[in-house]
Amino acid sequence: MLNVKSIQKDFPIFNRNENPLIYLDSASTTQKPQCVIDAVTTYYHSYAANIHRALYTIGEKATDEYESVRGKVKEFLNVPDTHSVIFTRSTTESLNLVAYAWGQKYLDSDSEILLSEMEHHSNLVPWQLVAEKTKASLKFISLTDDGTLNLEIIDSLVSERTKLMSVSHQSNVFGTVNPVEMLIAKAKDMGAITVIDGAQAVPHIKVDITKLDCDFYAFSGHKMVGPTGVGVLVGRTDLMEEMDPFMGGGEMIDTVTLEKSTWNKVPWKFEAGTPNIAQVIGLGAAIDYLQSVGIEKIHNHDVDLLNYGLDILSQNKDITLFGNAQNRGAVIPFNVKNIHPHDLAKFLDTDGICIRAGHHCAQPIMNHLGVTATARASFYLYNTKNDIDALAESIEKTARIFA
Ligand SMILES: Cc1ncc(COP(=O)(O)O)c(C=O)c1O
Repeated sequence: MLNVKSIQKDFPIFNRNENPLIYLDSASTTQKPQCVIDAVTTYYHSYAANIHRALYTIGEKATDEYESVRGKVKEFLNVPDTHSVIFTRSTTESLNLVAYAWGQKYLDSDSEILLSEMEHHSNLVPWQLVAEKTKASLKFISLTDDGTLNLEIIDSLVSERTKLMSVSHQSNVFGTVNPVEMLIAKAKDMGAITVIDGAQAVPHIKVDITKLDCDFYAFSGHKMVGPTGVGVLVGRTDLMEEMDPFMGGGEMIDTVTLEKSTWNKVPWKFEAGTPNIAQVIGLGAAIDYLQSVGIEKIHNHDVDLLNYGLDILSQNKDITLFGNAQNRGAVIPFNVKNIHPHDLAKFLDTDGICIRAGHHCAQPIMNHLGVTATARASFYLYNTKNDIDALAESIEKTARIFA
């Protein structure tokens, strides 16, 4: 069991006396504990310097702190090698990196890219762009009404033409945890490169990248109590050595003449320019924090809140719940009869409750559901069942106003 009262004390935003906050939008971004805020500010206070080039003490300290976070990612997600860990700005940038640097080099008009209808726009639009450029075709694993992937058709979708598969580990709309290990194995059997969007999975479930055996895995710091502006791409070093760079500039080069350049080794080949040093260091503090709490304990707490939330919300006859996966994270998409989700979110806000409303950067899912938007409550380690009770009460209050 998590001691949520004690966890909340670690997050300054939950300790304000006026207008206490009920934050139910962690699938969008999470709140930050003091230790992460301190790690970022300590860098700016005490050793702000550029990395990899300063020949003085604070520069060496900044380099050591930044580079040590690769080791933390390696240990946290069981990554084979620290050189596989590339720091980016976000999951979005990590996925674009693969689409541009791998996709543009290796895809052609005979190639198929396998995605699913469940993807966040970040794992859809980059592939549309690269498909347009290379004339590759897009194929999709369809969505069922339960908010799961239609796995029965998978064998008809993968073939020798499948050059790359990219799917999400956990859906940001339904919370569905996809059987990525099986999907990776099927795609690899056909010789395809496999990419997993782990933005929603890494903060909530134990992820073992070595065991998954995918070629690329992407996630964001801000969804796992870390700072905004930092993401990670874990990739196979042999593939990344062969890929073209994603961006050109300082640090990613080995030698430069006026006419030509050669590239630095992986991972630095993909970290052009001054990186988000403070944010990477903050990500390291976030990993330490999540590990000190225990990711399995966080997951069990998520499941407890999810089941409680489903139970409470399903008692209100005016609420439609979407999705019904067996294996599911702490995300509940829903709509309330006669209330637009945007109106609902605005009214809940007057009670200090934050939920998400909109298409959740997943318009194809909204099309499948036949709606333009849904409300969405998502939970994390700092939420309690009281938060869910407050949500249910505030929904009822809003429904009375709209009746
Ligand atoms: C499943 C999924 N993939 C990708 C992203 C994009 O993450 P970011 O905005 O941090 O790049 C999100 C963000 O909500 C997401 O939920």
